[in-house]
Amino acid sequence: MQTLWQDLRYGARRWLKKSSFKLIVVFALMLPGGILTAGHSSIALTLTLQNQQPDKSAEQVNQNIQALKGLPASQLLPVMHQMRAALGVRCDYCHIAENGKYWLDDKPAKQTARRMLRMVAEINQNHFGGQPVVTCNTCHRGSTAPVAMPGVNQGAFANTTRAEPGTPPPDPLPALDTILEKYVQALGGRVALESIKSRMTRLTLLRPKLVNAGTPSAAMIARAESWTVEITQQAPDKYLSVMTTPDGVITQGFNGSVGWVKSASGQRAMSNAAIARIKQQADLQQELKLKERYAKLIVTGKERVAEREAWVIEALTPEQRREKLFFDAQSGLLLRRVSLTRTALGDDPEQTDYEDYRAVDGVKLPFRITVSYLDDNHYGTARIVSEVQQNLTLKDAQFDPPPPGKQL
Ligand code: HEC
Ligand code: HEC
Repeated sequence: MQTLWQDLRYGARRWLKKSSFKLIVVFALMLPGGILTAGHSSIALTLTLQNQQPDKSAEQVNQNIQALKGLPASQLLPVMHQMRAALGVRCDYCHIAENGKYWLDDKPAKQTARRMLRMVAEINQNHFGGQPVVTCNTCHRGSTAPVAMPGVNQGAFANTTRAEPGTPPPDPLPALDTILEKYVQALGGRVALESIKSRMTRLTLLRPKLVNAGTPSAAMIARAESWTVEITQQAPDKYLSVMTTPDGVITQGFNGSVGWVKSASGQRAMSNAAIARIKQQADLQQELKLKERYAKLIVTGKERVAEREAWVIEALTPEQRREKLFFDAQSGLLLRRVSLTRTALGDDPEQTDYEDYRAVDGVKLPFRITVSYLDDNHYGTARIVSEVQQNLTLKDAQFDPPPPGKQL
């Protein structure tokens, strides 16, 4: 159990323990008012924060880096989580995790992993233009033992040499505009969406919970801690959220020009980056603006999302972050959005699932939004909406910064 504790130590605990006010606030900014603005993963968040420190390499920050020399230090843990997940093991499969002795090389698996890291780097360098195309998961797929031989009877075709005459070709992909238009229709249509001028949303935010902290039986329980949040949006860009956390209430707002954050420990102005994010979140018509929001959108195929068939659109944000959007082939609704962060070992996903769509004033909204990660216990969240009111009469002043209290 000690090892689990150490795993936690390097996973979320790092993040949770240090979850100073600042961190909580950044986290808070991820709460979408609308549905497409889920923002950045907590992994990405941790990265962002670490990146604010001078960008050191992994070997400058850690004791025994040989294969990953030159890797930005902020990528080391995401890469470890990717290796862990690709092999379906815990950190202590490769590490002496007791007392955090991750630098020791005593376990054979760690030595093997180092060889594998070099092999993967060579494959990508020599055959894939240096892009992290082949990863541990390409071969391992959740197991320590990749399977070389296809199973007997796989793809049991009557004629194994060529397709039968008359086999219908696969369905053609729908046009991008068809998918986006169907989405707008499914949500209630442009007119209905444009008629919403304000919205108040009450929700429960479920977050990771650390139990038995500091003991050998420490554990992270996914989505076990609950906060309550009330979000008010007013067209075109006013935003207010009041979040009740175990450490007190955090309020943040944007009145169209000034962004502010207030908690028990004081009040401060929002950073420009946070304001940019909150403006997007405040937008009640973001679903109509997908083409404006992304630099590029391409329909790439059809995939399953749980029981549903979905058209997949690959998207590139203006910041060059890649996303995949999954639209229900039948209903047209957005089922899933996957946001990818590039690391040395391929893409690190943040997956947001939109469920339980309900119509409110003729506009459909997802009442459950689940955000999942490779190491979900440490980072996963869910937002469960309990109440939505729209087109309320609001006072502009409620979005203004409160009279200054103690400055942070
Ligand atoms: C499949 C094996 C494997 C797994 C699983 C794994 N690691 Fe690693 N880890 C390595 C290897 C190999 C290195 C050294 C990399 C190098 O030489 O560049 C390393 C290095 C590290 C280091 C740097 C130690 C130092 O000071 O030099 C840390 C910290 C670390 N891992 C944490 C973790 C955590 C936390 C997990 C679980 C989420 C994990 N690792 C899972 C193989 C693994
Ligand atoms: C090209 C396919 C391929 C890729 C990519 C790959 N591996 Fe492997 N790996 C294998 C095979 C095959 C074995 C089993 C070798 C054997 O049985 O002799 C193996 C074995 C291992 C083992 C030893 C497992 C045990 O039984 O103890 C570790 C650890 C490992 N790989 C880690 C990694 C890591 C980490 C990565 C990514 C950096 C990776 N591998 C990428 C093919 C691959």
